[in-house]
Amino acid sequence: MLLEKIKPLFDFETLPKPVYIGNGLTHQDIISVSQFDTARLDYIFARAHEMREMVERVGAVDLLKGRVLACLFYEPSTRTSASFIAAMERLGGAVIPITQGVQFSSVSKGETLADTIRTLEQYADVIVLRHPEIGSAQVAADYANVPVINAGDGAGEHPTQALLDLFTIKEELGRLDGLKIAMVGDLRYGRTVHSLTRLLLQYKVSLRFVSPEILRLPLTLMNEVIDARLDVRETHDVADVIENADVLYVTRVQKERFTDLAQYEEVKDQYEITPELMAKAKSKMIVMHPLPRVGEIHYAVDADPRAAYFRQVKNGMYIRMALLAAVLGKA
Ligand code: CP
Repeated sequence: MLLEKIKPLFDFETLPKPVYIGNGLTHQDIISVSQFDTARLDYIFARAHEMREMVERVGAVDLLKGRVLACLFYEPSTRTSASFIAAMERLGGAVIPITQGVQFSSVSKGETLADTIRTLEQYADVIVLRHPEIGSAQVAADYANVPVINAGDGAGEHPTQALLDLFTIKEELGRLDGLKIAMVGDLRYGRTVHSLTRLLLQYKVSLRFVSPEILRLPLTLMNEVIDARLDVRETHDVADVIENADVLYVTRVQKERFTDLAQYEEVKDQYEITPELMAKAKSKMIVMHPLPRVGEIHYAVDADPRAAYFRQVKNGMYIRMALLAAVLGKA
């Protein structure tokens, strides 16, 4: 029989477009911010708002009752691990926490990432992974039959941090377009900077990159910024950006990524945001930091209402609640 004569089961041209639950995120891995266009960002931010209202009203719900999250962290974490655990528990789900010492798991006996992932997926509906190697989250996702969420892959990406960072800017300042955003510190190894910069390419922002020479933004990423035709400048001095910045996004120098510790010692104390520096900034600017800080922001700045870093921490839980609900099909 000639193939052309077989009557098609469906006329695909006239079928209605699929309605995605969770804006297309259901059962999806979350590996990179490149998965988030502005529509998807708006969707996650709207769900995060709902999560905040719910937490403030009743504390917890049963939306993810019966679902299990495996938290697998090969690197230290306080915020990312704790906020994913809190997010899952506030949505009524359960957690397998391998976060406080992967050395107590069979990884210490030499078990590979692939086998660890294939084991955890037997118990869990979703896996959150932090690992020191760039690309490790994608490797895990390739092996897993359940969604894998990248909680930081070496100096690569930290997509959920970037989502909460962007959400925080929007919550604090009410908009993204038109803002002047200065990133300060370790722009070479700081994965939160890499992910946030990529998300910001979708908006009409001005970017200012402040770093020591050896910690400049990677060239490939700078080329992406230039291709996006954003207003962008680089400098070594915070004084060059403090007066005009709407957002000062400060980062820690990532000691663990240096092969030459003498180089780390040279640059580790280059920047400190102090009350004196803050006096020169706009009254409506905000200071953000993914944390932990190790001296980049003086403790005296914490009392300044423009210090947004602990509000930023709290937003992380709402964003991760929204993501878990979306990935697990409970939008
Ligand atoms: N911002 C962040 O990733 O913090 P943790 O390393 O404590 O998870």
